[in-house]
Amino acid sequence: MAVPKKNQVIGLDIGSQSIKLVEIDHGKKGRILKNFGIIGLPPDAIVEGSIKEMEIVASAIKTLYRNLKIKNKNVATSISGYSVIVKKIEMSDRDESELETSIQSEAEQYIPFDINDVNLDYDILRTGAETTENAKEKGEKSASGKMEVMLVAAKKDVVEDYVSLLQLSGLNPAVLDVDAFALQNAFEASAAEPEGCYALVNVGAEELGINAIKDGVSMFSRDSSYGGNQITEAIMSQFDVAFAEAEKIKLGGEKLEKEKSALEEIFTSVITEWVQEIKRALDFLATSYPDENIQKIMLSGGSSRIPGFRKYLELETNLPVEELNPFANLLINEKVFDSKYLSYMASQAGVAVGLALRSIGDK
Ligand SMILES: Nc1ncnc2c1ncn2[C@@H]1O[C@H](COP(=O)(O)OP(=O)(O)OP(=O)(O)O)[C@@H](O)[C@H]1O
Ligand SMILES: [Mg+2]
Repeated sequence: MAVPKKNQVIGLDIGSQSIKLVEIDHGKKGRILKNFGIIGLPPDAIVEGSIKEMEIVASAIKTLYRNLKIKNKNVATSISGYSVIVKKIEMSDRDESELETSIQSEAEQYIPFDINDVNLDYDILRTGAETTENAKEKGEKSASGKMEVMLVAAKKDVVEDYVSLLQLSGLNPAVLDVDAFALQNAFEASAAEPEGCYALVNVGAEELGINAIKDGVSMFSRDSSYGGNQITEAIMSQFDVAFAEAEKIKLGGEKLEKEKSALEEIFTSVITEWVQEIKRALDFLATSYPDENIQKIMLSGGSSRIPGFRKYLELETNLPVEELNPFANLLINEKVFDSKYLSYMASQAGVAVGLALRSIGDK
């Protein structure tokens, strides 16, 4: 737990609707929430994880840093969406140096982009000997003896954009993570029982991310183009209002009686799409891992708070659905942070908390 101060990083979640910043100190009694802040972005500055307005986003980051008086310039941030592919693959067993030289050609078949256009990263989940051992434990007759590797491929141009963005903001990109893994990190730090099978679902403004994990290892993860903006856009066209006004209506601003039912219809139809997407992922998981049972769905992301979503997801999946509280195991000074404000923000802070818990030298 003790991370040397010089290795500590600031967690910066650059989302399409807002940037979230978290700073955590590692004290004797545990992890202390030192700083939390959020700043909104104009609607088209970041679109589905790709930076469209570099200057605007950089100036928002600078403002956030200034307002919170942050000194540490080492930042952990994350990418998500179509530009990053996370996949668990199997391959014939080999040692680490062999893996290093062959991963590029092995990865080619799993990646829908030109292999020269991506940065590849990988993590050995299980060696051939370990998969054999595991098969034996389960009483399976034949073991594949194959090794399991988590492959992460990120488009170079997108990675370069994030690095340039942080440099333009006067910061040092110390750790580049993936939203799904950062959120998993926050889950593991905050859960009472992190062991077991969980589906982590993050519904943001433009992305819906699903990450199914077992005992701390991701089995399957994917991001799709769903999110709260679908609702905002439907409100814009239904009520003929601009984006900001539509956001207000969505978040419970003044409504006329006749608007209420139109709004509920929009909520229902979009929520139904999200639930279908999550169910498709769970079905895929059940086919790929027939022995594993998801015990709970953990929700995060601002849009997971849309009224009715949690209940409907519970009903449709027959699984308990809970909200992930990334602040749960942090020491919080109530004189500094208003607890109501933190509970309101908890759904949006997961990725940033997970990032803030990384340290320099982490992948
Ligand atoms: N209480 C709430 N009820 C419903 N929706 C909410 C609530 N609070 C925030 N939202 C919505 O959540 C979205 C923002 O969530 P979040 O901060 O997780 O997204 P983001 O990280 O900026 O976007 P993305 O991850 O998709 O790039 C917006 O669409 C916002 O309208
Ligand atoms: Mg997000």
